[in-house]
Amino acid sequence: MPHRLGKYLLLKSVGESMDNKVYSCIDQETEEISAIKVFILDGHDSKSKFEAYQTEVESLELLAHYPHIVTMLGKCDEATFLKSDGSSHKVCYIVMELLERDIFDYVSMTDTFPAPILRHILKQLLQAVSFMHSQGYVHRDIKLENCCFDKDYNIRLCDFSSASAQHKDGLLHMNTMKGTQGYMAPEMLSEGIYKGRDIDIFALGVLLFTLRTKSAPFVSAELKDRAYRLFSLHQFEELWKSYESNFKS
Ligand SMILES: Nc1ncnc2c1ncn2[C@@H]1O[C@H](COP(=O)(O)OP(=O)(O)OP(=O)(O)O)[C@@H](O)[C@H]1O
Ligand SMILES: [Mg+2]
Repeated sequence: MPHRLGKYLLLKSVGESMDNKVYSCIDQETEEISAIKVFILDGHDSKSKFEAYQTEVESLELLAHYPHIVTMLGKCDEATFLKSDGSSHKVCYIVMELLERDIFDYVSMTDTFPAPILRHILKQLLQAVSFMHSQGYVHRDIKLENCCFDKDYNIRLCDFSSASAQHKDGLLHMNTMKGTQGYMAPEMLSEGIYKGRDIDIFALGVLLFTLRTKSAPFVSAELKDRAYRLFSLHQFEELWKSYESNFKS
């Protein structure tokens, strides 16, 4: 039996993480095709998942319709998800424009991106991030998997479940560990205190490096990580030697 959520008929899975599932779906009233991100709220962590959902909804309501930020089309705070085995889950969900693959998938499938394509991606991401920052929001989980292409190969920044409002001057210090290890800025890892805008910019640097070389610059931005140590000591010759096997022009 096909899955339904409200007026949406789920078509196929287009992405998932440990926590959530994203499907393509069709609105049975308008026949419009969209994406639906389903937050399953059954487990012991349902409170934090609902908070992540609320954070994403609030951010997308504020940032909606900016060109390089995913557009939210609808939301539902409480619904029941019926599985084909007869079991049911309490969920909430966000309906969004349906995008193409995320850029992590492209990096895995293709060779390194040529410089003009990198410039195109970076320029659009910088526009999205600078708009978001100007509205007093920080993303805190910028990475390849959270950036998707639309059908015209324009970038959309997605996944605002770790976002946060911050004072518009950007100087407020934050102290919640958020994000994905390889993209986390050193001050977040070492001190746990950071400026939100700075950590978004750091993550963009990691993303750009990874797009260019098909290899992460380091595992973790800590001095115990050899590659990061070479980076911070400006020992670039030795560092590039260690990347040589992965790096293609
Ligand atoms: N609007 C969309 N259209 C198509 N695919 C999408 C869309 N939004 C997300 N995806 C895909 O689904 C994957 C998971 O979505 P998302 O990153 O929003 O959830 P998540 O990583 O589970 O979030 P969270 O950090 O809240 O756990 C993305 O990496 C992307 O590949
Ligand atoms: Mg994600």
